[in-house]
Amino acid sequence: MYKKIFAKVYDPIMVHIEKGIGPKREALLSPLTGKILDVGCGTGVNFQYFRKDAQVIGIEPSAAMLAYAKKKLDQYPQIKVFNLGVNDPKLDDIIAPASMDYVISTLVLCTIPNPKEAIQNYKKWLKPNGKLIVLEHIKSEGRFYGGLQEVLNPVWKGLADGCNLNRQTDQYILEAGFKADEHFYLGNKLRWIQGVYGLSD
Ligand SMILES: C[S@@+](CC[C@H](N)C(=O)[O-])C[C@H]1O[C@@H](n2cnc3c(N)ncnc32)[C@H](O)[C@@H]1O
Repeated sequence: MYKKIFAKVYDPIMVHIEKGIGPKREALLSPLTGKILDVGCGTGVNFQYFRKDAQVIGIEPSAAMLAYAKKKLDQYPQIKVFNLGVNDPKLDDIIAPASMDYVISTLVLCTIPNPKEAIQNYKKWLKPNGKLIVLEHIKSEGRFYGGLQEVLNPVWKGLADGCNLNRQTDQYILEAGFKADEHFYLGNKLRWIQGVYGLSD
């Protein structure tokens, strides 16, 4: 029931947030061609930015979120979706190792239960010259806002379908061995990263 409510309110809430991050999604996603994996595609907010000549796979474990994504698919024949989470072994039948030109991870490493394991899968799925594209909120710097996020996190996580305010996702990506082609910090009180990462320099 809760998942259904979250899925129903997601796009209406995101309309407001997208005023800020929509142009960043567009800048990151609209130039991409080739094989693209949209991890945790949710209700399909990214779909509008993918080129028609790209080959896009979306994976999403919440059937409720995916139901909204599926409603958009008529407009996007280049996209196929699967009701699977990032660590589901069934993905081995769908995504071969080293087969993806791009892995897209927008607002999802905050929610995936084991983000470090997910990042290892991103590495596995990317071609040697493939790129990981990330747009994500992370733990804020500074004692006050960082501390507030720690305090609020349990309540927020309950309200926002498992989303965490206090992850240091920027560090997890670099510690996993990704090298930044682009890596910007956005915001202050609520800090974000916008990045493009490769497996080698
Ligand atoms: C905040 S939403 C972001 C949706 C979309 N990526 C976007 O940019 O709007 C987080 C999504 O991560 C999904 N998620 C949670 N656990 C996951 C997992 N193990 N693998 C893939 N996606 C997951 C959730 O179901 C939810 O749709």
